[in-house]
Amino acid sequence: MSPGLEVMTTVAAYRAACERLRAEGGSLAFVPTMGALHRGHLALVAEGRRRAANVAVSIFVNPTQFGPGEDFQKYPRPLERDLELCREAGVRLVFTPSPEEMYPRGERTRVHVSGLTDALCGPFRPGHFDGVATVVTKLFAATGAAVAVFGRKDYQQLQVVRRMAADLLLPIEIVGLPTVREADGLALSSRNVYLSPEERQRALAIPNGLSQALALHAAGERRAGALRHAVLELVEPAATRIDYVTVAEADELRPYADDARVGERALVALAAYVGTTRLIDNVVVSEDNSPIRTPP
Ligand code: PAJ
Repeated sequence: MSPGLEVMTTVAAYRAACERLRAEGGSLAFVPTMGALHRGHLALVAEGRRRAANVAVSIFVNPTQFGPGEDFQKYPRPLERDLELCREAGVRLVFTPSPEEMYPRGERTRVHVSGLTDALCGPFRPGHFDGVATVVTKLFAATGAAVAVFGRKDYQQLQVVRRMAADLLLPIEIVGLPTVREADGLALSSRNVYLSPEERQRALAIPNGLSQALALHAAGERRAGALRHAVLELVEPAATRIDYVTVAEADELRPYADDARVGERALVALAAYVGTTRLIDNVVVSEDNSPIRTPP
């Protein structure tokens, strides 16, 4: 029989359980989430199981990474279903703290990663990455030594977390996994439930645009502006509003000017609203598969 799932709501209980699992069973993998779990999250759990003896998942809708007017209140919170999915996926620990547990009375500390947050989503979501870096630092501190698994769907977040863990000397190895997509190419996201059927259809312009950029690059196009405009051409007619379409160096996240030629590893990333739903997606040229599956 497989060992059961334990659910903890306090840092003290969660920390003790992580320590016990490490002492008993060896290595620990950790997958931080905000819940409303889908196949993307479950792919991270599966990778965790491959890399470690036990997997811990956190489910916490982190208030400090949402701006005023963003969807903190309406973010989906189907906890019972999430726990069932975790159980089926072989997760050992789920940590579901309250905001008061994660942000004790009088708290004043924020973790800020500079530079990496200057472009892409940074300017459009002021304070967002400080909220992410702060909560992930707290979650890492509570978990202790582990391999933490993140998705490349949130590519900028992954780079911020990598830098933060290295800079703060945290005993955590960071692993990034490719984006899991629907059959038609749309990246899985907890926010996709906000899309009406018509918006869901229009949202396909995003993976189509990114596929177009990959195809151009594969055909030898190296001008950043040409890659960027290939995405814009498809996404502009479908989106209600575009925050950005950016081609950036894939490690430091410095945007290329339109007249620059891209280097070895270029990130093509965008954030766009379809209706009132903000969607993000990205590919790294010569590294990621096309979002649109072509028949063999
Ligand atoms: P959340 O949006 O729930 O995502 C949790 C993890 O799942 C992140 O590492 C994210 O990149 C990954 N993920 C989401 N959609 C994915 C997909 N389609 N394919 C692969 N991975 C995917 O990201 C957060 O929560 C929060 O910011 C968090 C890190 C938990 C801090 O609050």
